[in-house]
Amino acid sequence: MKFDTPAGANPIDRQRVVGHPHDRIDGPRKVSGTAPYAYERHDVAPDAAYGWIVGATIARGRVRSIDSRDAEAAPGVLGIVTAANAGPLKKSESHVAALLGGPTIQHHDQAIALVVAESFEQARDAARLVRVDYAAEKGRFDLATERAHARAAGPSFSGPSSISVGDFDGAFANAPISLDAVYNTPDQSHMMLEPHATTAAWEGEKLTLWTSNQMVAWAVRDLAVTLGIPKKNVRIVSPFVGGGFGAKLWIRADAVLAALAARRIGRPVKVALARPQIANNTTHRPATIQRIRIGAGKDGRIDAISHETWSGDLPGGGPETAGAQTRLLYRGEHRRIEHFLSELDLPEGNAMRAPGEAVGLLALEVAMDELAEKLKLDPVELRIRNDVQYDPEKGPNRPFSSRKLVECLRVGAERFHWSRRNPAPGQVRDGRWLVGMGMASAFRNNLVGASGARVSVDGRGRVLVESDMTDIGTGSYTIMAQTAAEMLGVPLDRVEVRLGDSLYPVSAGSGGQWGANSSTAGVYAACVSLRRALAQKAGFNADDADFADGHVIAGNRRVKLADAAGPDGVVVEDRMEYGDLQERYAQATFGAHFCEVGVDAATGEVRIRRQGGAFAAGRILNPKSARSQVIGAMTMGAGAALMEELVVDTRFGYFVTRDLADYHVPVHADIPDQDVVFFDELDDKSSPMKAKGVGELGICGAGAAVANAIYNATGVRIREFPITVDKLI
Ligand code: MOS
Repeated sequence: MKFDTPAGANPIDRQRVVGHPHDRIDGPRKVSGTAPYAYERHDVAPDAAYGWIVGATIARGRVRSIDSRDAEAAPGVLGIVTAANAGPLKKSESHVAALLGGPTIQHHDQAIALVVAESFEQARDAARLVRVDYAAEKGRFDLATERAHARAAGPSFSGPSSISVGDFDGAFANAPISLDAVYNTPDQSHMMLEPHATTAAWEGEKLTLWTSNQMVAWAVRDLAVTLGIPKKNVRIVSPFVGGGFGAKLWIRADAVLAALAARRIGRPVKVALARPQIANNTTHRPATIQRIRIGAGKDGRIDAISHETWSGDLPGGGPETAGAQTRLLYRGEHRRIEHFLSELDLPEGNAMRAPGEAVGLLALEVAMDELAEKLKLDPVELRIRNDVQYDPEKGPNRPFSSRKLVECLRVGAERFHWSRRNPAPGQVRDGRWLVGMGMASAFRNNLVGASGARVSVDGRGRVLVESDMTDIGTGSYTIMAQTAAEMLGVPLDRVEVRLGDSLYPVSAGSGGQWGANSSTAGVYAACVSLRRALAQKAGFNADDADFADGHVIAGNRRVKLADAAGPDGVVVEDRMEYGDLQERYAQATFGAHFCEVGVDAATGEVRIRRQGGAFAAGRILNPKSARSQVIGAMTMGAGAALMEELVVDTRFGYFVTRDLADYHVPVHADIPDQDVVFFDELDDKSSPMKAKGVGELGICGAGAAVANAIYNATGVRIREFPITVDKLI
């Protein structure tokens, strides 16, 4: 099925099941410990041996030799995989650095060996006996230094790396009010709850990997390329994923090494990354340096806007697209957005929750706060005055499919009692606390991806949905079940959903907040075909048939779904694909973040008192799981503002803060009060579901609202994240 014209009325609009706050149907299994995660597949691989990854202790150079004799002789050791004995491996295009390094070393903690043993402890112990002789080379580890050698980045998923419209320099020079400021954001780590983990088993030439992954079809592809085996010989199973945030968009060393080791020892092998290995062995969100210039009239209307941003990556890598939102968020005839990239020998930079916007808005929305102050204009009002209902680069010919930024700003401000804010900084005191309020716009692109599903009705009227879609803690199982229930007119408990297996139809997967809308649209497509098949079997004209109360209905005839399906049932597979509505319409999600902080006047300790947000993201498929996504993302945004940082050791080239003891993330107790409201909105250009995504929108701008609240509380403007105590006092 192809989606290439705006959606008309369809069965989803009834919203008997979709749009309701159903509990997560996978919830009981999660909380009772019966959801099988990749490292716990005793059921399918009871005899699995344990692998422990040996990571490089230099950041750049060569392995001269590996002496593994003592390790091989250690108790329980079954084998050691290195580049020297692994056979030929090919680097897939998804990876910048090889997943098994050696002899060349491209970054610190790059895997150079896997020690396999009968027990986890034996593998870990023996790994310490592996002696590696390195020839280290000098590396480049400091973005601030390497920025001098930056070049224009290539294009990325968010478009060209640099755009220029009008005459920015001229307009900026002549602007009555102007702002020119530089912001820094640090490297960050996803720090999802479940580390990367894989159990691998071979049966002849067929490889099965139970692995924790967001994108099953990409995992099949990349594993086949890496090992040089046909895709049909690879099965990926990833039914439960304990968080990903982008870290699990692509397979990592655990997957490749588990597969290699299982082949080598002729027995299943499982490999998990230890928490302190993740920061340097896998990917991270790259640090940025961002310069923002805005020229505005005295009325606050932006005439000229420029966003230049620098980030680094390994040779062959890509930029953090921090300028993405600046292309679309505010008006301004003269615009320039440029991404620069420096080569660094730090571990690979890549996508982390809302890549681009999450850090781009930390800069842009603090800049807007600074501009509002220069204009003596309320920050909410400044944003309202700069709303634009079409793509500001392309003009009115490319309108937004839907855009309720202004509504979000107004309603969010009202719910948060924004009018009580004292605009003069440093004036409000509550005992020892300086109290302030801040806000920011939220913006994140709306991407869609082709997505398929197989849906069946059996002879007892039970519905089964199968798709390789993943549920990374987001609620995919539930919203896909809601979609099938709505389309087929059955209650939710008649629907079973099976996900995360490459034996099922290929879905859009979980990434870039496209998962919810795209994967349910795939279920919708399959259900449209299934309805047709069932109606025909029941002897109805397919176009007249309605599906409700467990029946197929036309005129005054009702046939039970089970009877329509017949004793053998009906199975249909279909897929939603997309035409050019994404090009014809700018598609994005919007919101407004608000935050109140207290800052200890003596110590500089920052405490968030309240967060509030209003969001418009098309149809909200399940208000409960959507709210959970957004409050989680707002919490992560608070982390970006106040604590998260991969501290770089610029001498040796690695991230120092690599476990949860020193890479700080907020916990529930850090955010006592969160208020979230969604707009009732349908976007008929995004898909027949008329939905978009919220999983990333909630982090976009949340940190800037915190930073702006700190300024309002204290009068101290920090342009370097995270805003830790040492910077405040
Ligand atoms: Mo996302 S950073 O595409 O999981």
